[in-house]
This record gives sequence, C-alpha cells and structure tokens, in this order.
Amino acid sequence: MAHDSKGESPRRARSRVTVPKLRRMKTRGERISMLTAYDATFARMFDEADIDVLLVGDSLGMVVQGQDSTLPVTVDEVIYHCRAVARGCHGPLIVGDMPFMSYQINAEEALRNAGRFLAEGGAQAVKLEGGESVAPVIARIVAAGIPVMGHVGLTPQSVHAMGGFRVQGKTEEAAERVLTDALAVEAAGAFAVVLEGIPAPLAARVTEALSIPTIGIGAGVDCDGQVLVCYDLLGLTPDLRPKFVKRYAEMFDEGVAAARRYAAEVQSGAFPEAIHSFGVPTSEPVEAAGGGANVVQLRPVYGPQE
Ligand code: KIV
Repeated sequence: MAHDSKGESPRRARSRVTVPKLRRMKTRGERISMLTAYDATFARMFDEADIDVLLVGDSLGMVVQGQDSTLPVTVDEVIYHCRAVARGCHGPLIVGDMPFMSYQINAEEALRNAGRFLAEGGAQAVKLEGGESVAPVIARIVAAGIPVMGHVGLTPQSVHAMGGFRVQGKTEEAAERVLTDALAVEAAGAFAVVLEGIPAPLAARVTEALSIPTIGIGAGVDCDGQVLVCYDLLGLTPDLRPKFVKRYAEMFDEGVAAARRYAAEVQSGAFPEAIHSFGVPTSEPVEAAGGGANVVQLRPVYGPQE
C-alpha cells in the first residue's frame, strides 16, 4: 500500500453498495460477500477488503458480550454497535440485526424499532428472523421504506424451540417448510434472505425458486452469497470450530503470542526503547525505526505529541 508524505495510508473512496445493486448482482450471477462487524476498526478492515454487506449481528451477544445465546441482546446495544460500524466504513451496505422481541410483539413496535436502526444507527437496512409468521411484519417495515433482509432455516433466536443450534430442513416436510418460509419472506418484500444451517441441496432449491438473493451460512455453495461471523473467519473464537466455518486467519493465537512477547519485554525492560520515548535522543533513522517520530503524528487522537 502506498503512503502519503505523512506516512498515512490513503483510503480508497468507494460508493456505497445499495439494495438495487445486490439485486443486480444476483441477476448477473455475481456472488455477494457479507460479514458481521461490531466496531469501527473491523468495519474499516472489511471496507478495505471490498466486502459488499456488513451485518451488525445479534451474534455480538455471543462473541462480544460472552453470552451463550443471542437472546439477551437489546435494540440499544445493536444500535450502539451500528453507529460504530457506520463511522468506520463508506462502502458496504450496513444491515442492523433486529434482536429477540424487538419485532415479535406487533408490527407497530417492529416498525418503530426498525426505524431506529436507520435514524440512530446509520444502517441502510434491517434483518429479522422467521418466515411466514413474520411476513406481515416485514411487509409493514418495507412499506415504510425500510429495506428488510429475511433469515430462515436455523434461526438462532428460536434456539429453545429448535432444541439447540441444529441443522433445519432435513426431512422432506421440514424442507418444504423452509422453502415456504423463504417464499413468504420474498412475497412480503424482503430484498434478500439469509439461509442458515440447511442442507446444501435445499439451499440450491430455494436459491433457484427465489428472485431475491440468498445469502448462505452453513448452506453450501449454491447460494447467491455467503456470510460468516467475522470472529470465526479471523480465528478469534478458539473454542469453536463449526463445520461450516473456514478460518482465514488465526488472530486469537497471534494475539496471545503478541501479548506474551509484550509482557516479557516489559519484564526485561526491552520495551519501551528510546524510539518509543519522548525527550530521549535517538540516532536511528526514521524509516529503520518503523516510522520513528512520525508514529507520534500518526496517532493524534490519543497520543501526546512532543
Ligand atoms: O447475528 C448474526 O451474526 C447472524 C448471521 C449468522 C447471519 O444472524
């Protein structure tokens, strides 16, 4: 990456991915990439990587808050994380995940909550779980001009009804149910639908039947796009290795190793060196010192300057 005269890496400006663009991508057979994000730094990372959609998922309850399900997550909490994500990126479409009990009571309350994700959270769309039973709610939110992404198959907010996080649609009857749900979500006006935890042949059948894009997670290769929880992709969930996840990095292990080296250098006095200190002359050239004095200029937000 080229750097400007201050050593800062220039950010590429890309225009925001839109709901109509996702529809066009399905028509053209272009695959859609979606990841979860919960803060500005990760949002910036995924923007740089040209990810199409960022979902501020209620999975934040599990990976950020350490809960054992998504059920305790509140609207205020998701909106807080949405704002952080919106500040960190320009390009991806931002989807706010409607948490448990924020859309189930009635369509009025669902609409009021959905509006908050756009007005307060800086999202461009919302996602909610369920099929036929939530179709009237989806229709109501869509009629107010708020794009809705559906989510059928394994719906984590129904973990207790499903008896755990289990693959859905395995029998012929259950498969028909998933297809009916996906069709209902489409008919209600959703612009896309997440297919989670269903057999790959069923996901292919649903994708073929729908004109809106399907975004798969644990649903095989034939969906119009894929979504992963970013902590899984980056290897930040050391105790979890679900079959459907591919780890593209091992950031947990790298973080442990880095923190160990840091602690050892603090113990030994090897850190900080003169180049990390103020008022101590250093003979090292700026470049060889990894930026040297420029490092101070790069961090004006939280770093003191000499
Ligand atoms: O909350 C979430 O992260 C999700 C994805 C798994 C689709 O709903």
